[in-house]
Amino acid sequence: MGGRQIGALWPRNVRPLLAQGRGPAFASRAQVLDCREGLEAESGAWGRAVAHIIVVGNEKGGAGKSTVAMHVATALARMGHRTGTLDLDLRQRTLARYLENRSRHMAREGLDLPSPLFAELPEIDQSALPPGENVMDHRLSAAVATLEGTCDFILIDCPGSHTRLSQVAHSLADTLVTPLNDSFVDFDLLARVDNDGETIMGPSVYAEMVWNARQLRAQAGLEPIDWIVVRNRMGAQNMVNKKKMEAALSKLSRRIGFRVAPGFNERVIFRELFPRGLTLLDLRDIGVTNLNISNVAARQELRDLVKALQLPGVTVGF
Ligand SMILES: Nc1ncnc2c1ncn2[C@@H]1O[C@H](COP(=O)(O)OP(=O)(O)OP(=O)(O)O)[C@@H](O)[C@H]1O
Ligand SMILES: [Mg+2]
Repeated sequence: MGGRQIGALWPRNVRPLLAQGRGPAFASRAQVLDCREGLEAESGAWGRAVAHIIVVGNEKGGAGKSTVAMHVATALARMGHRTGTLDLDLRQRTLARYLENRSRHMAREGLDLPSPLFAELPEIDQSALPPGENVMDHRLSAAVATLEGTCDFILIDCPGSHTRLSQVAHSLADTLVTPLNDSFVDFDLLARVDNDGETIMGPSVYAEMVWNARQLRAQAGLEPIDWIVVRNRMGAQNMVNKKKMEAALSKLSRRIGFRVAPGFNERVIFRELFPRGLTLLDLRDIGVTNLNISNVAARQELRDLVKALQLPGVTVGF
């Protein structure tokens, strides 16, 4: 019952917002929020809360979004939480393919590993929509609705670029996870830094997009986004850069309001697991009894990350 209501509320809410003169991008994001607000108000009647939405986003490509998304979603599924996933990168479909690889590997090997659900964004006939409504909004709404009724968590993997789908998804985020390569090139999408690598000159495009999403949630009376930046692919060397990044992130976190979570070091295992759709947590189940030191450390990093996310109802037990 719960899921379908988002779709039913969507068209009803967009028209008044458009009439107020807001641009379509904002109108629809606010409208999505209105839908969730409506659902939350009614959730008592269903005897369960609405799903907690975790968005993994960063407009910088290759930061580790899909890797983090797959690991967090699988960790939640393994801990017994009903977890659904969406992949908003409709071209690369990395998370979708990761999960396809997992299903195929499990079928071939006769394995039954705990796994998150996956929902496709359904095709919607643009010509059937009322004028001014965005087909992508409707596709996202329908996909969220598919998972909302049955999941505790919905994890949304965003593309490494600025798209309408990603923008709308960010305003839905209860928790936003932003993996960031340990490089000032990647940092530049959050904030501009002066030549000294220390002085922050102002927020950049991605931080501004998150700020807009936060404004929309505030207008809708929703809880603020809990934004967590995760450092990824940290190297054992280059201590000077590492320390500078740490200092810059710490300064920026206070200024634009995010938490910094412990992330992953550069580890080859992350690249090896994809073809079989596996995560670090599955290795024991497929018969790897002696994890090497790097894999044990990577597991610990994942544990620390999931703990740091402070997700509702989650006690990390792996
Ligand atoms: N901690 C890590 N150590 C080593 N390799 C990593 C690590 N994290 C991610 N990778 C590798 O980096 C590449 C990019 O990762 P991933 O696809 O998760 O990034 P993304 O942010 O989703 O990229 P896109 O923006 O293209 O969607 C992949 O080859 C992945 O296997
Ligand atoms: Mg990706």
